[in-house]
Amino acid sequence: MTITTMETRGTVVFPDDFVWGAATASYQIEGAAKEDGRGPSIWDTFSATPGKVREGDTGEVACDHYHRYRDDVALMKDLGLNAYRFSVAWPRIQPTGSGAANQAGLAFYDRLVDALLDAGITPYVTLYHWDLPQTLEDLGGWTSRDTAYRFADYAAIVHDRLGDRVSHWTTLNEPWVSAFLGYGNGVHAPGRTSAHDALRAAHHLLLGHGLAARALRAAGAEEIMLVVNSAPVLTPAQVNDPAAAVSAADAAAADRVHALLTRQFLDPALLGRYPAEVLEAAGRNGGTAHILDGDLEIINAPIDLVGINYYNPCVVEDGPGLPADAAWPGSEGVRFASAEAPVTAMGWPIVPSGLSRLLVRLSSDYPRVGLMVTENGAAFDDVVEDGRVHDGARLAYLEGHLRAAHAAIAQGADLRGYLVWSLLDNFEWAEGYGRRFGVVHVDYTTQARTPKDSALWYRDVITRNGL
Ligand code: FCB
Repeated sequence: MTITTMETRGTVVFPDDFVWGAATASYQIEGAAKEDGRGPSIWDTFSATPGKVREGDTGEVACDHYHRYRDDVALMKDLGLNAYRFSVAWPRIQPTGSGAANQAGLAFYDRLVDALLDAGITPYVTLYHWDLPQTLEDLGGWTSRDTAYRFADYAAIVHDRLGDRVSHWTTLNEPWVSAFLGYGNGVHAPGRTSAHDALRAAHHLLLGHGLAARALRAAGAEEIMLVVNSAPVLTPAQVNDPAAAVSAADAAAADRVHALLTRQFLDPALLGRYPAEVLEAAGRNGGTAHILDGDLEIINAPIDLVGINYYNPCVVEDGPGLPADAAWPGSEGVRFASAEAPVTAMGWPIVPSGLSRLLVRLSSDYPRVGLMVTENGAAFDDVVEDGRVHDGARLAYLEGHLRAAHAAIAQGADLRGYLVWSLLDNFEWAEGYGRRFGVVHVDYTTQARTPKDSALWYRDVITRNGL
């Protein structure tokens, strides 16, 4: 596969029914953490723990979207979005993670969906974007098998309320991050640090996905999606030269990391089996007793789309004798390297061609599902000047990645849409409010929203259905 001919200039037009939109997540924007019966989530607990989040920031107020959703929907309409991907906060619906639904919590999403539909914007609902009810974590969180069953119950409750108006359903956002940053290196909530716990959490997240997918389908859901954080795994030389020669040892390191990052989730969900690399990693870290007979059949419930959140490639090489990284059980003997590329404010390398490479590969490895870019974007240190935000670096990032997405379609990738991360600047997890990913600037003192230059440019992209 060579991606050397990507157009960097000129006109590109996307397929007619291509979906254009933006994404957010409940804990990152809603605020109103204690309102209308919402229970605490693992992110409330984690962000209140000193030292876990930069500057001690929390999602307690965030973008106050819970109260300002009408204005935010009006803003989306002004920007011409066709689709809006948001997540439902499980602790608003079931404050302790199980039992009767909290009607006030459901009513919020009811109003949001109605506002979106009134504005002509298609809702894409994500059921889990990391805000697990704290009560469930106290009972073991995702290391407990029971959490998967609770998740399916919750999915059915939300579908029951919104399913008459919502056709696009996502079970999980980025289970790799939930499992391996939440339970592996502890950088995210709940902040546990155990390879065995992380691998168990990954399996139970998948089981929850399969059970929820079945429940959604049985209730009549039209389209079901699983969203993963995927990335091409490249050697340092391949970052700037896709055709660079790769040694056998480096290729083996890259294959193993691809299995841990992407195949760990997509092989069970789409092919009904685990990669050998994942079973070996579990074998070395407490065993595979948590994988029961019949689980893979549940996990392999039919789905329609895979959502790809792409920010940067994963760069590795052979690293003889190195221990596994805490976020990557099974990565013994792999060196995680840096890329020679310009970086965003997160320090993430900017490599648009990585998106083409990834989409083409996933479409060929998993031909039976469609793909959607469900997140792509960049943090930069934006400044408001005379009511404008001249975020040329973000605009260039987005343009480069859209060209890369288009190149992938031209090479046969079945890509159905693109959702920018994010609509608004928001609570960027362990980085707090210091990292701004929005195409719309948020002043956290006044809650004023200011569309950045990238938002105005994106509106034109949507109008033209291309560049
Ligand atoms: C992804 C998350 C999203 C956001 C971006 C920057 O991993 O899904 O919530 O934080 O990264």
